[in-house]
Amino acid sequence: MTAEANVGVVGLAAMGASLARNLARHGNKVAVFNRHYSRTEKLINEHGSEGTFYPAKTMEEFVASLTKPRTAIIMVKAGEPTDDMINQLADLMEPGDIIVDAGNAHFPDTIRREKAIAARGMHFVGCGVSGGEEGALLGPSMMPGGSEESWKTLKPIFESIAAKVDGEPCVTHIGENGAGHFVKMVHNGIEYSDMQLISESYDLMRRALGMTPAEIGDVFEEWNKTELDSYLIEITAEVLHQVDHKTGKPLVDVIVDHAGMKGTGTWTVQSALDLAVPVTGIAEAVFARGLSGQTELRAEAQKQAFEGPSGVVPMAEEDKIAFINDIREALYASKIVAYAQGFNEITEAAKVYDWKIDLAAVARIWRGGCIIRAKFLNRISEAFESGDANVSLLFAPYFKDAIETAERSWRRVVSRAISFGIPVPVFASSLEYFDGLRSPRLPAALIQGQRDLFGAHTYQRVDEPGAFHTLWTEEGRPEIQA
Ligand code: 6PG
Repeated sequence: MTAEANVGVVGLAAMGASLARNLARHGNKVAVFNRHYSRTEKLINEHGSEGTFYPAKTMEEFVASLTKPRTAIIMVKAGEPTDDMINQLADLMEPGDIIVDAGNAHFPDTIRREKAIAARGMHFVGCGVSGGEEGALLGPSMMPGGSEESWKTLKPIFESIAAKVDGEPCVTHIGENGAGHFVKMVHNGIEYSDMQLISESYDLMRRALGMTPAEIGDVFEEWNKTELDSYLIEITAEVLHQVDHKTGKPLVDVIVDHAGMKGTGTWTVQSALDLAVPVTGIAEAVFARGLSGQTELRAEAQKQAFEGPSGVVPMAEEDKIAFINDIREALYASKIVAYAQGFNEITEAAKVYDWKIDLAAVARIWRGGCIIRAKFLNRISEAFESGDANVSLLFAPYFKDAIETAERSWRRVVSRAISFGIPVPVFASSLEYFDGLRSPRLPAALIQGQRDLFGAHTYQRVDEPGAFHTLWTEEGRPEIQA
């Protein structure tokens, strides 16, 4: 077989097949390989006319059909299948060739794999790809890590298939080794937070205001014309308007209320804990999914018939409208917190892992193609470009102003939700984070005192440098410099 393909895709399930088609539609010559040839055949039979494909029956054939430096994109199940595929490819490839893992790998795995492949003279690129099946076909947001050198080859290929916003492709080289997968992981963490916030908004309208899913869908449709304009708000309206064909009920009412998760949100929180970065909104969103899945515990709790507020809260029409407006403001403020926390996590990780990540560029490539795409990412990228968001997105004038405008509404929503007995863990924890940040003194001073008393852990003083310990058991409790 002569080498003619400039890129190849391994793994032709939904995402891989869509990516291969997207590549071919944009003039790339695409080698394709799948463990079972029937999938490859299906792709060629159904979509072969969309561009130039080189279907391969064996991995050897696949590698032989690629021009040098060979570029192979793997889109297989995370974990062992990915390691197997990487090893098989690496055994057939040569120094200078590039293996791209476009799945949702955990970034420490990507760091490990990059090291092993680099030691063999090849490039390994962990690339976050967001946008689901449709994004993979019509234009995803792409977050490649790996070496600068591999980026030279990948840039034109990835730019040809990525989503475009204002003519700019939603792809940039994020940084070395695992940086791409790290940023994709945080993207997913923000996605969790955003989805939970939207769901909390829905729950308040549904339970406290007694609105129907369709009515709430209309509200989200309206919100999509405001600063909340985003893909997730748009699809929320669509989900809420959907009627179940079998029962005629709103579809949302026949879906089991147990949210699934595949791990990226959990990883975001685990890594934030390691880095000691509070990503409270994301953590609460992960825990909220966890609670939803504790079916037995929840069933037991129902049997307990706990007392507490429940049911629709009687409200005059104008109060209802005002409350819906408050929820919109609270959603916006909490969403800003989610992004601020997510970007902080990226900043801290970049220090630890020695990545040079351009946060403005990250915000720019999230404007299109990905699940969290939203109009306000334009503002976020501007805030990072100007340096205003260097310490926190919350301190950039545009967002500071937005938070201050929303603040009263935000407090009303959280306090009223608590009094209505409706859980709003992400609204509340986002507000708590904001209040923690703006507090001139925190009760952490008391914690330091406690730690020093029971464990001689020492504390620092506000008026003198050094570590101090109080001799708690001695008379007069003298202090010594530790
Ligand atoms: C994306 C999505 C994608 C995945 C979600 C779903 O950016 O395209 O994030 O990667 O579908 O992660 O994840 P959960 O199953 O954990 O909700």
